[in-house]
Amino acid sequence: MPENKGKSPKIIAVVNQKGGVGKTTTAINLATALAATNHKTLLLDLDPQGNASTGFGVGQQERSDSIYDVIMGQAGLDDVVIETDVPQLYLAPANVDLAGAELELVDGGRRSHRLQDALLAYCGEDQAYDYVLIDCPPSLNLLTINALTASDSVLVPLQCEFFALEGLSLLLRTVERVRNSLNPSLSMEGVVLTMYDGRNNLAQQVQDDVRDYLGDDVFQTVIPRNIRLSEAPGYGMPALMFDHRCTGSQAYISLAAELIRKNKRLQAA
Ligand SMILES: Nc1ncnc2c1ncn2[C@@H]1O[C@H](COP(=O)(O)OP(=O)(O)OP(=O)(O)O)[C@@H](O)[C@H]1O
Ligand SMILES: [Mg+2]
Repeated sequence: MPENKGKSPKIIAVVNQKGGVGKTTTAINLATALAATNHKTLLLDLDPQGNASTGFGVGQQERSDSIYDVIMGQAGLDDVVIETDVPQLYLAPANVDLAGAELELVDGGRRSHRLQDALLAYCGEDQAYDYVLIDCPPSLNLLTINALTASDSVLVPLQCEFFALEGLSLLLRTVERVRNSLNPSLSMEGVVLTMYDGRNNLAQQVQDDVRDYLGDDVFQTVIPRNIRLSEAPGYGMPALMFDHRCTGSQAYISLAAELIRKNKRLQAA
């Protein structure tokens, strides 16, 4: 029985406008680790690239009803959400149609609230999700604004490289703007360092700088660079199913545990 019967889920946007930093890898494997610890979880693919959907082996024909239809108000989430091979884990797939949504929404009403409205309508008592994770595109466009408007918190995968902090301050300013206008209760779930290579001095330096700058907002768990994490999507499964013992999978299990602990502490406070 899911833990969350009758309560609303914790909705977390996985965001970084920089491409290729590990958003999708984090969304897929964190969602899997949460589901594996008996938390009913919905992964929402909000990227026209559809990488999260591909990562679960969802073929194009299974995506004919997609998150695009939901954003355009032509379908509800209940029409598009599918089961994955991971018990307790569900997926709202995306396809390339989503690339047109921003333009098509230019004159649309509640255009920043489309996802929020759909989630509110869907996540009623009978769904009983514990977590919803939203895999965002590498941009601060209207789709990402929809994710930030719909979410309780923001999780930022950050690759330890030279320009990381610069991109982060732009992202944090955007989060602040959304908090001041569209979603006052948006909070920071945390920054997670990804593709970390401890032999690289620059990576260590960036980690120290990020921890100095953000303190407790940085997860203790660091995701190492691990080839198994990049191989798994080619087999249409999360790394946690592909090889649950590899260092990457173990790191995502530990990230999920840290996130659950943090949320239990907040609930108790
Ligand atoms: N910890 C890791 N170790 C090794 N490879 C990784 C790791 N995390 C991600 N990758 C690989 O790096 C590439 C980019 O990762 P991913 O797709 O998760 O990033 P993204 O931020 O979602 O990208 P985009 O901005 O295009 O959506 C992928 O090929 C992925 O398999
Ligand atoms: Mg991605």
